Amino acid sequence: MKRIFLLVATASCIAATSSVSQNDISAVSVQLPRKGGTKEVSLFCFQGEAGKVKEKGSTLTFTSLSEIVKLKKKAYKKDRSSKKKKQLQNAKKLYNASLGSCETTDSPTPTPTPGNQGTQNSYFDPQGNVTALGYDVFEIPAELSANAFLGQDVFEQTCAGCHEKRTRLTFPELRERISEEPMYFTEDEVPDEDLANLFAYLAVGRSPLRE
Ligand code: HEC
Repeated sequence: MKRIFLLVATASCIAATSSVSQNDISAVSVQLPRKGGTKEVSLFCFQGEAGKVKEKGSTLTFTSLSEIVKLKKKAYKKDRSSKKKKQLQNAKKLYNASLGSCETTDSPTPTPTPGNQGTQNSYFDPQGNVTALGYDVFEIPAELSANAFLGQDVFEQTCAGCHEKRTRLTFPELRERISEEPMYFTEDEVPDEDLANLFAYLAVGRSPLRE
């Protein structure tokens, strides 16, 4: 069996919530994709990351969107309600939309790039999002967002216990395969939204030049 080993640098460790001063943060607006268009959302950047700022008394606290996704995931795991699920999905969408929006040009640490060369000729962009070409080849439904960095999380929680990271399959084939023996994952356990990110993670390293 062919196994693919790839190391993807993890998207850094982030403190849950930080106290910040007004001077450390800057406002940024991102376009959130929605049915029939986009919606503009205002966010804040702090140390190269997008997040939300709250005022508590006289202090400002910053929580990154990746942290918010983690919190929503925890909340959803607790009660599995459809409301919590929706909140988790919304948090992920916002996180995806924000990727790259807080990057500073003088950043000393380059972001890890699942994509190689130019985006046009790659299945991934530098933020780990699957490109239009990738959606085509991998047969990922267009309404799902697919990000390799988010998929790493899903992989570690759901799959890493049994095997390493790999796939040469398409999205529908992966859905089918994980529903079979010995995995038997249902769409409830691994929803499409998660599987799309997971798929992206598993497909990092695939390239149109090597298919
Ligand atoms: C309970 C252990 C277990 C878990 C958890 C698990 N798998 Fe598997 N998986 C297996 C076994 C066993 C096989 C069949 C033998 C093999 O191909 O290694 C397999 C096969 C596969 C295959 C087919 C491999 C091939 O080369 O044809 C894919 C793809 C796959 N798993 C993906 C996943 C994904 C994605 C997850 C997480 C959502 C996952 N698996 C979670 C045990 C597991």
